[in-house]
Amino acid sequence: MRRTYDVVIVGSGAAGLTAALKLAPHMRVAVLSKGEMAAGSTRWAQGGIAAVLEATDSIQSHIDDTLIAGAGLCHEDAVRYVVERGREAIEKLINLGVEFDKADTRHEDGYDYHLTREGGHSHRRIIHAADATGRAVQKTLNEQVMHEPNIDVYENHMAIDIITNRHLKNKAAYTDQAHGVYVLNLDKGQVETFSARATILATGGASRVYLYSSNPDASTGDGIAMAWRAGCRVTNMEFNQFHPTCLYHPDAKTFLITEAMRGEGAVLRGKDGKRFMPGYDKREELAPRDIVARAIDSEMKRTGQDCVYLDITHKDADFVISHFPTIYRHCLTLGIDITKDMIPVVPAAHYTCGGVDVDFSARTGLDRLYAVGECAHTGLHGANRMASNSLLECLVTGNAAADDILARLDDMIGPATARDWDESQVTDSDEEVVVTHNWKELRRFMWDYVGIVRTDKRLARAKHRIDLLQSEILEYYGNFRVTADLLELRNLVTVADLIVRSAQMRKESRGLHYTADYPETAEVARDTTLIPFGRAVSDRVA
Ligand code: FAD
Ligand code: SIN
Repeated sequence: MRRTYDVVIVGSGAAGLTAALKLAPHMRVAVLSKGEMAAGSTRWAQGGIAAVLEATDSIQSHIDDTLIAGAGLCHEDAVRYVVERGREAIEKLINLGVEFDKADTRHEDGYDYHLTREGGHSHRRIIHAADATGRAVQKTLNEQVMHEPNIDVYENHMAIDIITNRHLKNKAAYTDQAHGVYVLNLDKGQVETFSARATILATGGASRVYLYSSNPDASTGDGIAMAWRAGCRVTNMEFNQFHPTCLYHPDAKTFLITEAMRGEGAVLRGKDGKRFMPGYDKREELAPRDIVARAIDSEMKRTGQDCVYLDITHKDADFVISHFPTIYRHCLTLGIDITKDMIPVVPAAHYTCGGVDVDFSARTGLDRLYAVGECAHTGLHGANRMASNSLLECLVTGNAAADDILARLDDMIGPATARDWDESQVTDSDEEVVVTHNWKELRRFMWDYVGIVRTDKRLARAKHRIDLLQSEILEYYGNFRVTADLLELRNLVTVADLIVRSAQMRKESRGLHYTADYPETAEVARDTTLIPFGRAVSDRVA
């Protein structure tokens, strides 16, 4: 099956749908999701979106806070670019119909939304819809997209690889560029060719590479791995953010307890009931995430406990229930009444700060290929993302990519004719266990060896295992028909390799990357950029 569009967008979270809505009045757009539309992290976002929305706050203050959290590695021009566009992005969401929480009183400048606080922010600047901001944003964007006649949404369609010149029938006629994607239709088990004049990756992060993660199943780093295979540079993959407070309960799938709860006064305690954050940082529970997550890790190791506790029982019960209704209800189903009981919590992999290198227009190094949202590296987050800056980046980069495409589309001739996907040389696998076994092994050793505290020895152990897995998976990929699990595993092992190689190159501790072998921070902050070359790439085209 062949399909042709002006633009194909891989991913239907906040970043992908923002781009789609801006492009749709002018051209034909395909939006792909490997699950349902809300399969990504956007739908699960709790705390809110950071933006300067109040007279006592300032753009400079938001920039300064972001730079401090980013531990010397933010690109200041990128931070300014994103922060300056915050208010406009929020107003657009409000106009589309997102219902953010209102404040009891009006702010000085007449804005009447409730703004909460999170770690690293020196002002209340997080606009939110109770503790389910992502649900409100995703729902509104979905509704808008469904009404756009120029947008076709393909759920259960998983992109495999970017179509580049080497996949073309007439490759000599083109300079190096992207021409769309090969896509596995998960309902039919067939590979389809989506040709496009421009391609946008909006595939989210890669936190599922770790055993414990706050992310949904979709966060397997597909866009980063696809871009890498297509020849794009990736930057700062060693900076994996661990959210300090995910619910710890044997019957719960990983569930986040929003940082906004600490913003509204919740404190962290050990099993003995004593607070420990004051001993780690003067900002206490509202220190940036890397500091809080490391403090919890250290307390758990020191006391031998499986978790620590988040306590908001000192606040009025009505206040707690009205601000955190989703968390209240979820915890209650597990027998925890958060108005009376402390909440058991542990850190879990939450956000991928690194990603595909892009410029202000979200262009990657490959012509006509864009990356937006969590899969991109814009320079905004540096060595540690500040809470709620991520959805803001999704909105700003989604718009930026669309603007650039709108300005260039007339010059983008095509799309070119790609060769068909060829499965004549492969069979159905009779050893699915290889995939499930390797998947579990990978996530386990990434957690044990490449987690919150790293050492040279642990990284070397991880790298050794990744090399073995990569050759096994590449061979398997070459012999058997593709499935969603196989494709995700192939991407996860690529991303794991990029993370470990980046971590091995950083001979210092900075932001989210902490290594016991180099505990000091170097005087000069440098990005870790990996450049692909000379790697074996398995092709499946006729
Ligand atoms: P996502 O929303 O993750 O969407 C990815 C999309 O790509 C999905 O549609 C998926 O199906 C699709 N996809 C992936 N691979 C493929 C493929 N191969 N083929 C086809 N489709 C594919 N950030 C904030 O700023 N504020 C918050 O309060 C906040 N809270 C969070 C709470 C939780 C529990 C989590 C997990 C994250 C939170 N974050 C928050 C981070 C933020 O939600 C994400 O960074 C952001 O939503 C990413 O959006 P995205 O559009 O880049 O990707
Ligand atoms: C949270 O609500 O704690 C998550 C916020 C974020 O990841 O930005």
